[in-house]
Amino acid sequence: MTDSRPSLRVLPDAGALAQTAADEVLRAAQAANDRFTLALSGGSTPKHLYQRLAAADFAARLDWPRVHLFWGDERCVPPDDPASNYRLARETLLDHLSIPSVNIHRIPGEQEPAQAAARYDRRLRDFFGGLPRFDLILLGLGDDGHIASLFPHTPALQERHRYAVHSTAPVPPIHRVTLTLPVINAAARVLFLVSGAGKAAILRRVLEGEAAGDDLPAQLIRPARGEVIWLVDESAARLLSH
Ligand code: 6PG
Repeated sequence: MTDSRPSLRVLPDAGALAQTAADEVLRAAQAANDRFTLALSGGSTPKHLYQRLAAADFAARLDWPRVHLFWGDERCVPPDDPASNYRLARETLLDHLSIPSVNIHRIPGEQEPAQAAARYDRRLRDFFGGLPRFDLILLGLGDDGHIASLFPHTPALQERHRYAVHSTAPVPPIHRVTLTLPVINAAARVLFLVSGAGKAAILRRVLEGEAAGDDLPAQLIRPARGEVIWLVDESAARLLSH
């Protein structure tokens, strides 16, 4: 029985965080039966992890032809736009791997948002044959407690039927496509990566503050049959009580 309480590991710095996260990706891949389904996160934090996974000594330890890469969310911009989460992964990871292109399930951010969301939802249904159960979903933590592109008190956060939806962010890029809460909470493992002093206050609110419901989407991540692992560096953890 998976322990439902989140586990927290505090690492000395961003480099150690990336190394530990890479080890967790490998552990999840080894636990997967045949194909390994991984949803990548966006923003800036995962860049070091992707570079670590792409490094020759590490890349050789993953059987990339059985790895299927998805995204937890995407900004509605072209894939070569500096704001694209796909572009971040392509530059730091995909361009350095021999992974079949059919294994890369990009969210078509260049399309009209609702159409992009519907296409991604269909891709998820066709691939998983129903509610997706990812082997591993990577998440960052937004300053307002958002995860993926599920922002506080938004219709996207309330969605309980579709697997991917159009979401609007309070900061540009406004239009996004995001996995929904039911998909994230169906995962076998969710790995949060949180780095930097700027995240200390929100991390304390999420982990040690009052239950805040839709005020703090990160607190709503409770996989029914999965584990949540928080990997944070000392700067981000400096306000935590333990
Ligand atoms: C995005 C991400 C978003 C991100 C957090 C943290 O598309 O921006 O999916 O949820 O993970 O905002 O971002 P940083 O890692 O840049 O702090």
